[in-house]
Amino acid sequence: MQTVAVLSLKGGVGKTTVVLGLASAAMRRGVRTLVVDLDPQCNATACLEPDKTTKGLSDVLADPRPEVLRAAVSGSSWGEEVDVLVGSEDAESLNGQHSDGDHLSHLTDALSELDGLIAEGELPYQLVLLDCPPSLGRLTRSALIAADRALLVTEPTIFAVSGVQRAFEAVQAERQSNNPDLQPLGVIVNRVRPRSHEHQFRIDELRDIFGPLVLPVALPDRLAVQQAQGACMPIHQWGTPGAREVALAFNLVLARTLRAGRQRRFEPDDDEFLEETE
Ligand SMILES: Nc1ncnc2c1ncn2[C@@H]1O[C@H](COP(=O)(O)OP(=O)(O)OP(=O)(O)O)[C@@H](O)[C@H]1O
Ligand SMILES: [Mg+2]
Repeated sequence: MQTVAVLSLKGGVGKTTVVLGLASAAMRRGVRTLVVDLDPQCNATACLEPDKTTKGLSDVLADPRPEVLRAAVSGSSWGEEVDVLVGSEDAESLNGQHSDGDHLSHLTDALSELDGLIAEGELPYQLVLLDCPPSLGRLTRSALIAADRALLVTEPTIFAVSGVQRAFEAVQAERQSNNPDLQPLGVIVNRVRPRSHEHQFRIDELRDIFGPLVLPVALPDRLAVQQAQGACMPIHQWGTPGAREVALAFNLVLARTLRAGRQRRFEPDDDEFLEETE
């Protein structure tokens, strides 16, 4: 199982879009996925339309026992491959700057019980996507402690470099103090307009500083992203040319994410999958 925290220092740069896009690509590829909505705004939960649950993320963070986790996870309206650990609006109160190591590890504790949630005949989760809130507070730290990989999201703007730098510092700090296994998966640049010189300049700047950590595939700015989210649909099912372009980019990012998995139970044929995206 590969657990990926999707984070950024700034709000509104596309964390939830990346989580939903990867979940959509995973679904298309038959990769069983759990989306964990750590953001009190609950945008990912709203888009995945899970059945009503009696518990949510804040209950799991307060009490990570398997029965609480079970009550907080629900199937999504997208399909049986994608489940949701539903967000809690009241999780904001848990986001303060505590240094309580035990509580910070509750998400890790809960996710270690995920296999026990799988009913007979069901596939285990192969991918867990942690949608972080727009801050490096306690909720994002919990995600970084629970994750194998951190995927940083940025837009190609003047503030991108400093934002990514600070997010990397947060990843580094968590690796040193609480999660030695945490590795950066990379930086994904979102909302790129390929003909914009300014965007190209900013992407080159990011590559100069972060080298190969900047993913070779960027996500284009396409109205279809907003349309599909508004309709609570996976981008792979939206069907417009813009949606197809974004969906293909997510296929590539998913392939990279799965390749980065250290303990892969699922051995996809990446070459075959990538050919499909060309
Ligand atoms: N590639 C894209 N093309 C067009 N619109 C996009 C793209 N990426 C994101 N958006 C839009 O930008 C808005 C913000 O995106 P999103 O909610 O994914 O950001 P976020 O980082 O999760 O925000 P927050 O910090 O509030 O959680 C949304 O309306 C989304 O539809
Ligand atoms: Mg979000």
